[in-house]
Amino acid sequence: MPDSRVTLRLQNVTKVYGVGDAAVTALDSVDFSAQAGEVVMVMGPSGAGKTTFLTIAGALLRPTSGTIEIAGTDITGLKEKDLPAVRREKVGFIFQSFNLLESLTALENVRLVMTDITPRSATNRARELLNMLGLSRRLKSLPKNLSGGEKQRVAIARALANNPDLILADEPTANLDSARGQEVMQLLRQIALDLGQSVVIVSHDHRIREVTHRVLWLEDGRFRADVITARDAVCGQMVEVEGAPTVSFNGMSYYFCAEQCLKLFEAAPRRYVEANKG
Ligand SMILES: Nc1ncnc2c1ncn2[C@@H]1O[C@H](COP(=O)(O)OP(=O)(O)OP(=O)(O)O)[C@@H](O)[C@H]1O
Ligand SMILES: [Mg+2]
Repeated sequence: MPDSRVTLRLQNVTKVYGVGDAAVTALDSVDFSAQAGEVVMVMGPSGAGKTTFLTIAGALLRPTSGTIEIAGTDITGLKEKDLPAVRREKVGFIFQSFNLLESLTALENVRLVMTDITPRSATNRARELLNMLGLSRRLKSLPKNLSGGEKQRVAIARALANNPDLILADEPTANLDSARGQEVMQLLRQIALDLGQSVVIVSHDHRIREVTHRVLWLEDGRFRADVITARDAVCGQMVEVEGAPTVSFNGMSYYFCAEQCLKLFEAAPRRYVEANKG
C-alpha cells in the first residue's frame, strides 16, 4: 500500500497558454500530491488540461506560476539545463504514441535511456526488463514489426529503466484491446507497489479505474473535489471520498463505503493494508 513518501507535489499550479485574447488557462491553481506506491488516475473531458498537467508534473513544461516538487526536489527554480537530469533520474514517461525510435530494436530503445551506467549493464538491465514484460523473444524486433501491445510494453520497460520515483502515463491503454489494457495496468500497479513508485495515469478509459487507488476528475483546468474517488481497502469498491467514512493509518487516509468496512479496517488495519499489496 502507499507509504507516506511524497513523490510528486504540485502547489497552486497555473498554466496559461498564449497571451491577450488568445490566452487559454489550461490549469487553474491546481494542488496535487502522489505518494510512493500509489496509482492515481486523472480523468476528465477533452481539453480539461490532463496532458498539460502531466507534462508539467514531469518537468517537460514550465507552469506559469506555482511550485512543483518531484521526489523531494523542488524543480520550480531549477535552470533549464538542470531539468533533463531530473527527468532522467526521477521520471519515467509512457506516451500514448509510445515514442519509440523506429530504427532501433526493442532492446536498443530501452538501453538508450540508461546513460549513467556501463553499456554492458544497460544491455543487461534492458534485457531483464523486457523479459519481465514478456518480450524475451522480441528483443531484436524493430517497432514496425511489433504489435500495439508489444510496443506499449517496450515503452513501459523504457519508462522503468532508470528506476524512477514517478511514472507518468498519458492514455497508456488507448491503443490496446481490453484484455491487454487490463494486463498493462495490473503490471503498472504491481510495479508501483513492489518498487515504491508512484504511477499517475491520465486516461478516458473507465476500465482501468479498477486497478487504481484514487481517481481524480479534472475539468476546465481544476480538480473537482466532489467527484474524487478512492478504493475501499476492505471491500475493494470505489467510493466517493466526499462524505465517506475515513480513517488515517501510517500517514495515509483510507475511505470506506460504509461504517462496517471502516470498523473491520480499524480492527486490523495491517491486514487490509497488506492484502492490498497483491
Ligand atoms: N501548446 C498549446 N498552445 C495553446 N493552447 C494549448 C496548447 N496545448 C494545449 N492547449 C489548450 O489547453 C487546454 C488543455 O489542453 P490539454 O492538451 O492539456 O487537454 P487534455 O485534457 O489533455 O485533452 P485531451 O483529452 O483531448 O487529450 C485546451 O483548451 C487546449 O486547447
Ligand atoms: Mg491529452
